[in-house]
Amino acid sequence: MIAPARSPAPLVIHREDYRPPRFVVDAVDLDIQLDPELTQVRARLHLRRQSEADDQPLRLCGEGLALLEIRQDGQTLPKDQYRLEEGALLLLHPPRDFVLETLVQIRPIANTALSGLYFANGHFITQCEAEGFRRITYYLDRPDVLARFGVTLHAEQGPHPVLLANGNRIAAGQEAHGRHWVRWEDPFPKPCYLFALVAGDLGCVRDHFRTASGREVALEIYVEAHHLDACAQAMDALQRAMAWDERVYGREYDLDRYMIVATDTFNMGAMENKGLNIFNSKYVLARPETATDTDYQGIESVIAHEYFHNWTGNRVTLRDWFQLSLKEGLTVFRDQEFSADENSRGVQRIGDVRRLRAAQFPEDAGPLAHPVRPDAYIEINNFYTATVYEKGAEVVRMIHTVLGAAAFRQGMDLYFARHDGQAVTIEDFLAAMEGATGRDLAAFRLWYSQAGTPVVHAAGRYDPAQRRYSLTLRQEAAPTPGQPEKRPLPIPVRMALFSPAGQAMPLRGQEEDGAGDRERILMLDTAEQTWIFTEVSEPPIPSLLRGFSAPVRLEMGFGDAQRAFLASHDDDPFNRWEAMQGLALQALLAAIDQSHGAGVLPELLHGALAAVLSDAQMDPAYRAELLTLPSEDYVGEQMAVIDVEGIHCAREALRRAMGSAFGEQWAADYESLAFPYSRDGVSSGRRRLRNLALAYLLASDASYLDRTRQQYRQADNMTDHLAAFSLLVHQPDADVSDILADFYQRWQQHPLVIDKWFAIQASAPRPDTLAKAQALLQHPAFDWRTPNRVRALLGSLGANATVFHAADGSGYAFLAAQIRHLDELNPQIAARLATPLSRWQRYDAQRQGLMRQALEDLAGKANLSRDLGEVLEKSLK
Ligand code: PHE
Ligand code: ZN
Repeated sequence: MIAPARSPAPLVIHREDYRPPRFVVDAVDLDIQLDPELTQVRARLHLRRQSEADDQPLRLCGEGLALLEIRQDGQTLPKDQYRLEEGALLLLHPPRDFVLETLVQIRPIANTALSGLYFANGHFITQCEAEGFRRITYYLDRPDVLARFGVTLHAEQGPHPVLLANGNRIAAGQEAHGRHWVRWEDPFPKPCYLFALVAGDLGCVRDHFRTASGREVALEIYVEAHHLDACAQAMDALQRAMAWDERVYGREYDLDRYMIVATDTFNMGAMENKGLNIFNSKYVLARPETATDTDYQGIESVIAHEYFHNWTGNRVTLRDWFQLSLKEGLTVFRDQEFSADENSRGVQRIGDVRRLRAAQFPEDAGPLAHPVRPDAYIEINNFYTATVYEKGAEVVRMIHTVLGAAAFRQGMDLYFARHDGQAVTIEDFLAAMEGATGRDLAAFRLWYSQAGTPVVHAAGRYDPAQRRYSLTLRQEAAPTPGQPEKRPLPIPVRMALFSPAGQAMPLRGQEEDGAGDRERILMLDTAEQTWIFTEVSEPPIPSLLRGFSAPVRLEMGFGDAQRAFLASHDDDPFNRWEAMQGLALQALLAAIDQSHGAGVLPELLHGALAAVLSDAQMDPAYRAELLTLPSEDYVGEQMAVIDVEGIHCAREALRRAMGSAFGEQWAADYESLAFPYSRDGVSSGRRRLRNLALAYLLASDASYLDRTRQQYRQADNMTDHLAAFSLLVHQPDADVSDILADFYQRWQQHPLVIDKWFAIQASAPRPDTLAKAQALLQHPAFDWRTPNRVRALLGSLGANATVFHAADGSGYAFLAAQIRHLDELNPQIAARLATPLSRWQRYDAQRQGLMRQALEDLAGKANLSRDLGEVLEKSLK
């Protein structure tokens, strides 16, 4: 009954087929008798036909529901008036305006897909985005049907004293058999994907926020009682996010109460249900002993993200799921800007771009590539992707860049003014931006419809006689599935020119705008364009794509000398970092190419590193960024055929070389950066740099093993404890069984920490890792029904290049076997775990064959879910 949708002939949904709903729902009233085994949902829907002329049947979505009663305007509906189909209830002759009442039965305890209403760890939780509400009751489950919801929850009081739903708490009472009830009403019409309920035994941390217009909002974070001391960061981030949205966008919160619930059992990061956010506990709970600095950061940004959805997503919602990036890209942009304002803008931007390159660029170059606004899908859950989220945010950022902050804000104001309470499209968003500013964004629309990462080639030429510098930018893009031809995109290239002495030069050219500005945005909107800069007295060094002003790959015909120059002189924090990365990347690629380990540091890289290491003034977090090598994955991305072993060996050798070349500096940093724990940005930056220093020391000098063990034992915070733990467990040949046992022993009561225990073992670049992972599947703490745990073990293994891509195919076979099993329980997670296999085209012929074999074996599985089926079909095309 509860089984996820499994259809033999997958139905493709096309954006072009969108039709407005023929019925609207004026009001929804739910009465839910919660019981883990058998929950009954009574739904009263006020339905109204949109057009007089229409006499088509009404089709309501429903999945895995047992229909017990059905009434139309109070009368039991005769059997010949409706029909049950796969995934739907059809009312054959519905009146124009009527009340439909259904009573259905569902089984929350058997819901392992975690979509709809499920029961886990003693709590009832719902997840309705994207199409989970149809697993709770029959409904018009589409985002453009907005209705007012009221819900009465009934449950056994002992185990479920807390009963929550969206909006305002209206009334409550006791009833027979130790049960109680609570009535909730949400005054804001909403699509059903924003519906939520929670029932359980939860404690609550309370605080307040006073809005700019003086309304008091109650803030409530619900967690299990033993976590009441772990909500401070979440509450603080929420209050800062609320203030930020008022300050930067003039947006206030609109209900009297804002609730957040943390659960250990959740498919995604968090969910923005109206007034009742539900969070993966990873993004709520933090104490210094159990959460790392990265965890604290993650909480801040996800709390803010879900809060910002109240305006971008909830008050203005989506017409259809193809518009997903309208809320997600825009909201990611907003949360990135919030984090940049609250912390270090430069470090934030580097992290955002790193994530984009790690997840989105490979996606955009593989068989699952799709536009930011897709044209077709089989399973919408497969489209919560880095492209929709991260690339979508980059597109909004480019619009922000070309319009400027003030005009962008005017556009947002108009967007909210026009569309509050509506379900709209990306087109509506762009039209508001244009309407408010008088700018033409026609060309920008292509960023939403064309997939693939453009490559921008840059070439500069200096003419000393004319004192002119000409810069030519050319763009191209490789075909993606279904899009063989690519058109030129509008690409804003923020740039500056540096004099050989390291000064940004005044920019003068044909389109003189404000004399002497030292930074300019060039708009590359054709295949190739040349810009001439005049009165250039010396041969300049260009700094292009500053702040990563567009989501493209930039190819500059640059040598290491220019990179080294920018690494020391560029005043754009992103481009300075990029130049350092470029130097390191070239060193790694050269070493791989000549199949020698990068045993020696190239001179220019050495000099650049030395300068950063001796710059005590620099923000430690930024310094750590500059001193961190590009990831193995990023190096692989730059190669025609990814050489897994070669990359790993070269990068390890370079780390060793960096460790020994600067042994004294690293040791000095390691000693001088030791401070008692404190939770501010400067302190976390110091920890980051200090742990990086330890990593380099250990890479080059085995005697640091003792020091690392000591840090592991003595750390007064999880960041340092875990950094040492990870270094030890990732040592290629150290025996660390005592450490593994000790860590488990210490933290076994803390699931989020035990996730790290699984993840770090599964990401160890050691020959025994696969055997270890196999054994960990049998560990009592491993749980197939907890997505965090599954991701910790299997997600980490899939991301562990040397182990997953073992030449004999053992990594592929292992992962495929686990996906096969998981697909029976949780198709969303199963489909996501398959992405590393989808990248088969990037490897050598032998690995390609083995990866395809694993995909084909999976595709032959009986009872394949729609989620996994779509990923496999596209991967094997
Ligand atoms: N809408 C959520 C967010 O990004 C993500 C999500 C999607 C959560 C689908 C659950 C299910 O904020
Ligand atoms: Zn979101």
